[in-house]
Amino acid sequence: MARINDNYLKLKAGYLFPEIGRRVTAFSNANPDAKIIRMGIGDVTEPLPPAIIEAMHKAVDEMAKRETFRGYGPEQGYAFLRDAIAKNEYAARNCEVHADEIFVSDGSKCDTGNILDILAPGKENVIAVGDPVYPVYVDTNVMAGHTGQSNAKGEYEGIVYLPMTAENGFKASLPTRKVDVIYLCFPNNPTGAVIDRGALTEWVLYAKENDAIILYDAAYEAYISVDDIPHSIYEIPGAREVAIEFRSCSKNAGFTGTRCAWTVVPKALMGTNEKGEKVELHKLWMRRHTTKFNGVPYIIQRGAEAIYSDQGKQQVADLIAFYMQNAAIIRSTFTSLGMEVYGGIHAPYVWVKTPSAPGSSNRIDSWGMFDKMLRECHVVITPGSGFGASGEGYFRVSAFNSRANVEEAMQRIRTKFQ
Ligand code: MLT
Repeated sequence: MARINDNYLKLKAGYLFPEIGRRVTAFSNANPDAKIIRMGIGDVTEPLPPAIIEAMHKAVDEMAKRETFRGYGPEQGYAFLRDAIAKNEYAARNCEVHADEIFVSDGSKCDTGNILDILAPGKENVIAVGDPVYPVYVDTNVMAGHTGQSNAKGEYEGIVYLPMTAENGFKASLPTRKVDVIYLCFPNNPTGAVIDRGALTEWVLYAKENDAIILYDAAYEAYISVDDIPHSIYEIPGAREVAIEFRSCSKNAGFTGTRCAWTVVPKALMGTNEKGEKVELHKLWMRRHTTKFNGVPYIIQRGAEAIYSDQGKQQVADLIAFYMQNAAIIRSTFTSLGMEVYGGIHAPYVWVKTPSAPGSSNRIDSWGMFDKMLRECHVVITPGSGFGASGEGYFRVSAFNSRANVEEAMQRIRTKFQ
């Protein structure tokens, strides 16, 4: 019999979102008349902007003619898209990122997991994550054998957890011990917190001083609504030498079902081999990407390119404004109910402290709040503890929904929690 990867057996529960789905399905089967409104997973609801649809239609027509048909594309992505990204996302912000440092892919979730292929197996690297954390960062490290077992709090031995709570303003402090790989996600999923230039500069300096790598997930950067918050880590001097950045077309332009993202691996970024010699991570990622991936479909890449047309830019901005109005409605509802509300200003996620249980001074726990919301309001939220021990006592509400659903959900919540 084939031997399995025992690391999978260390994983505690199911992946958070399927687990939520399982509970919602069970509730829905038992209550077939309940009109459930899903504000759990951050999945977009509004159609793709017209400029993107038009570009995709045109690309479909090209695929219908021998002269313009395309088979395998370049694994790294078509030059037209990489050039558009380099110009609009990086040159426009004075960041030095070259088109050949951009790897177009089918998702940031996949890439944040896949990147571990080019880092040492086993426990060679000390990994640091914020807590609460997007669960993919932790689970993929467990799968790759970078950790030991988990404790009662669900924390894995070998991972350094950096608490991000209301008490520290959702700012993870620099690690007090040396770490080698640091995951940062800003605007943050799940808390909606952002990082300013000064704090991000401290991380870049830490990484330089400690020969660490930062894995920077900026999938939600389009939601930043003020000028002085960095959209890309490459806005910080020196970041080219220490950071890989993950970006996505999912949350800005609505590609969650269509799939298009990219990862930047600068040529200046080095790791060391077993002899202690420096090796370019870009070369390793190129090797991995071209071996294990055949590229995002041409039609989708043409759609992604249209994000950067004049019309596309305006339509994407309108889409973001729409979701942010949802976030404002959600924020004001929970605030008016006397709950502590965070996020939702530069991010499509609102992070709320659970209220006290009726007749008690104890707070409802995260899964208790999930169950209560589902049972009493037929609204799905995400329990904060699903993102890590420091998420206990919080819940996340996603602003990705139709206006009608947001209004209806907030009305139900006001009625139950008043
Ligand atoms: C979330 O709800 O946290 C996101 O949808 C997860 C993801 O983008 O994979």
